[in-house]
Amino acid sequence: MPVPASLPAPAAGQQWSAAAYAANAPFVPALGGAALALLDPRPGERILDLGCGDGVLTARIAAAGAAVTGLEPDPDMAAAARGRGLAVIAADAHDPIPGGPWDAVFSNAALHWMRDPALVLSRVFDALAPGGRLVAEQGGFGNVAAVVTALNAARAARGLAALAPWDFPSPDRARRRLEAAGFEVEELGLHPRPTPLPTGMAGWLATFAAPFLSDLPAAARPALLAAAEGLLGALHEPGTGWVADYVRLRFRARRPR
Ligand code: BEZ
Repeated sequence: MPVPASLPAPAAGQQWSAAAYAANAPFVPALGGAALALLDPRPGERILDLGCGDGVLTARIAAAGAAVTGLEPDPDMAAAARGRGLAVIAADAHDPIPGGPWDAVFSNAALHWMRDPALVLSRVFDALAPGGRLVAEQGGFGNVAAVVTALNAARAARGLAALAPWDFPSPDRARRRLEAAGFEVEELGLHPRPTPLPTGMAGWLATFAAPFLSDLPAAARPALLAAAEGLLGALHEPGTGWVADYVRLRFRARRPR
């Protein structure tokens, strides 16, 4: 199966439903505690949550007393976050980030969706106050590798090219990219985190696999997802159920004073 030389432009076909996300992926904010601890939000700090989604984790930053604002381009997710009483800027992180300077920028499970992560890092750098910090968790090297391989095997069986719609950098690559944007990296590491899926592999694929389907007729999509699921038996654990092969990259980096 040929491997694509570079990431294709945006994760084509992905549209969010806040209700489906809450049902199929509640673990995304629920397991955000380690990233929140690394952020260590303080009362009164101006914090931007980049890719805040439905705002479940953002609300925990607000509960710590910080003046937090979400940045979220998806209308359904932004509406869900606003429904929690949160301020949300509807913008794409590839564009200059409004509202700065921010004391901190936080991001959970969003950076791997960016089509140009280096550009986004430079936008974040520019939006931070001198001495401000970027604290983020995202998919790291090897994240959901079995799932991606199964989706690409199902595509290959239909004569379709392999895709790599998400950016899961190794620690070395992530560090180099942060430093190239001007950051001082204070902490950065890879953390394997096998993650039980509350609605099974079918629920995960229904929520996240759209980038692998956009060049298929709608009628052919369920069979591709079923074929991928059929290849993933190694991720089904007796007594537990489906467990995704998540690997998190977590870091704190600072804009120098
Ligand atoms: C993640 O959070 O690691 C992730 C979620 C959906 C698609 C790809 C990665």
